[in-house]
Amino acid sequence: MSKSNQFDTKIIQAQDFARGVSFEEKAEPVLIDLLGPAIKAIKEGEIVAFPTETVYGLGASAFQSQAIKKIYAAKGRPQDNPLIVHLADLNDLEKLARDIPDLAYKLFNEFAPGPLTLILKRQTIIPNEVTAGLDTVGIRFPNSLISRTLIQEAGPLVAPSANLSGKPSPTRAKHVYDDLYGKLPYIIDGGSSDIGLESTILDLTVYPPQILRPGGISKKLLEEFLDIELGNYSSKPDAPDLEAKAPGMKYRHYAPQAKLDTFTSAKDLENLFKIHNSDSLAVIVSEKTWQDCKPVNSDFLVLNTIPNQSEEVQLHEGKPLIITYSDLDQASHDLFAAFRFFDDLSIQYIYVQAAQDQGKGEAFMNRLNKAKSDK
Ligand code: TXA
Ligand code: MG
Repeated sequence: MSKSNQFDTKIIQAQDFARGVSFEEKAEPVLIDLLGPAIKAIKEGEIVAFPTETVYGLGASAFQSQAIKKIYAAKGRPQDNPLIVHLADLNDLEKLARDIPDLAYKLFNEFAPGPLTLILKRQTIIPNEVTAGLDTVGIRFPNSLISRTLIQEAGPLVAPSANLSGKPSPTRAKHVYDDLYGKLPYIIDGGSSDIGLESTILDLTVYPPQILRPGGISKKLLEEFLDIELGNYSSKPDAPDLEAKAPGMKYRHYAPQAKLDTFTSAKDLENLFKIHNSDSLAVIVSEKTWQDCKPVNSDFLVLNTIPNQSEEVQLHEGKPLIITYSDLDQASHDLFAAFRFFDDLSIQYIYVQAAQDQGKGEAFMNRLNKAKSDK
């Protein structure tokens, strides 16, 4: 067995259990049984990929340093990039964090389980491999029955997104399989991730709290709920303050192999088709803008979902591929899946319609801008 192909990775089919849950809901015994081999593997110090409502995570026991090292190795993740701890029960918060401000309880009572990660002062019980030497820890409560069951049985779990470092985060089990086959014993398949972009990271160790990464819960929603103006993050990849604070944000991320750029209007798109007009081009555009677009050429392949397999797209030859979306939720849900799908098809140019950089558009634009930097 070669070092890179240590496992014949198995997929545990759990799509039937893919849904969100409240804190009150108890895990179903039949799901615990189904997840049994994954639960056992985690307890024995292995890593397992599992679905959350944001993206797929690569999980290990938060208290097993050796297991946590396997995460860094499998992903090729830089050692200075800390991991988020995933919990299922609010009562566990104090085991992992200290000096917890009231704001943390207020926020988790409202938004957990859900796509919100809070940065808090850490307890020393947490291995250094988790926090990459920082005095803080990121904590979140994922809102999916599968992840909550796994955490209840084998947690707390540390989990970065289950992709190779630098690649788009996985939003389907297939994405994890493509990146990490052979490096882990199990991938739990919970279907396509609900949100498709990662959690919002909010630093509560400063005042006013600061968004370190925009995500599933918008800054606007948090500000309205707290009635506090939150500290500014910068979506620029070279923002030095932020780099120091959320180490992961300084790395190039989410990048497809193709050259990626944004456009704004139907007119921009018409002009684009004058330069690139072949099957090396893919476009992600709102339904409305696509209706307004009047290209000279009318030979396109238009899809409104991302197929699971690139082989499902046969009409592609010679024609630009157009992916339309109805709203920003769908655009966010499909963004990373689209990037990977385009890579499978060897697309060379991707153009994505830019959204407004606020509300739900903030996380979408942040990922787009990070994906296109360095190009
Ligand atoms: O939605 C999510 O948050 C997903 C799912 C799997 O839960 N996880 C995820 O993890 O996106 P990852 O490792 O891909 O991104 C975590 C980010 C990194 O940018 C990291 O630097 C930052 O969180 N982070 C983690 N702990 C931190 C800490 N103590 N202080 C500042 N930033 C932290
Ligand atoms: Mg990641």
